[in-house]
Amino acid sequence: MTRIAYVNGRFCLHAQAVVHIEDRGFQFGDGVYEVWSVRRSRLLDADGHFDRLDRSLAELRIAAPRSRRALGLIIRELIRRNRVRDGLVYLQVTRGQARRDHPFPPESTPPTLVVTAKRVDLSAAAKRAETGIAVISVPDRRWSRCDIKTVNLLPNVLAKQEARESGAFEAWQVDSSGHVTEGSSTNAWIVTADGKLVTRPADNAILHGITRATLMRVAAEAGFGLEERAFTIKEAQAAREAFVTSATSFVTPVVEIDGRTIGNGRPGSIATALRQAYLETA
Ligand code: PDD
Repeated sequence: MTRIAYVNGRFCLHAQAVVHIEDRGFQFGDGVYEVWSVRRSRLLDADGHFDRLDRSLAELRIAAPRSRRALGLIIRELIRRNRVRDGLVYLQVTRGQARRDHPFPPESTPPTLVVTAKRVDLSAAAKRAETGIAVISVPDRRWSRCDIKTVNLLPNVLAKQEARESGAFEAWQVDSSGHVTEGSSTNAWIVTADGKLVTRPADNAILHGITRATLMRVAAEAGFGLEERAFTIKEAQAAREAFVTSATSFVTPVVEIDGRTIGNGRPGSIATALRQAYLETA
């Protein structure tokens, strides 16, 4: 099937979609992005991701490329043209194309807008949820504004690659005080012996995950206690359960951290129930 992308006002063949070599996203990583999961041709947590996009743009003083309504129409059209039932939408906005110079370009420079949609076979993610994933720990080498969803993902890329080379699926980043911040592309959670959910507060050290926020609501409605606090790898290794959340993995149980088995080495019942509850709600 021919894939279609959207670039700066036009739908075009994905294979031929291009941005300029002097785009600030390419030269400086001067841009932000969002990822929505699509299920049954519908965006999950649509408003949460739009709200975070607005916030990321505002924090970096990049002009919104289109109204939310217009972006919604573009995304819907892209889902339709690519016949995506289950998949992902990726949207990126950069500070635009300008002669290479570090300060912001003139205000008249239009931001660059790229949107793509792709089909994803959900069975691979479902299988991972059934077996659980292994995680390794790595030092967090990122900057102090990880709450902004920028395209500056080099430390995340290196962390994920390290995980894959160690046979793990995700890397949990650890700050200088020995506490887990988050995964390279997921938020990190543990379950205490008495069944409380623990996840790091949404400070500047982590991305304020939309799945994380929805799951907090879902968990509260289901009667789970929640502690928003940082935890160490040692505490996670001794936890009753551990799991990650993101738009692409929903809720995925963690069964091994740095080679140590979590619980009985099988996905925990709480993480599995929360995954189900999330998918029914989002
Ligand atoms: N990643 N932390 C980081 C560093 C992330 O990149 C992501 C998402 C999350 C989870 O956020 P959310 O629940 O809003 O998806 C946490 C996306 C999926 C990506 O980069 O592909």
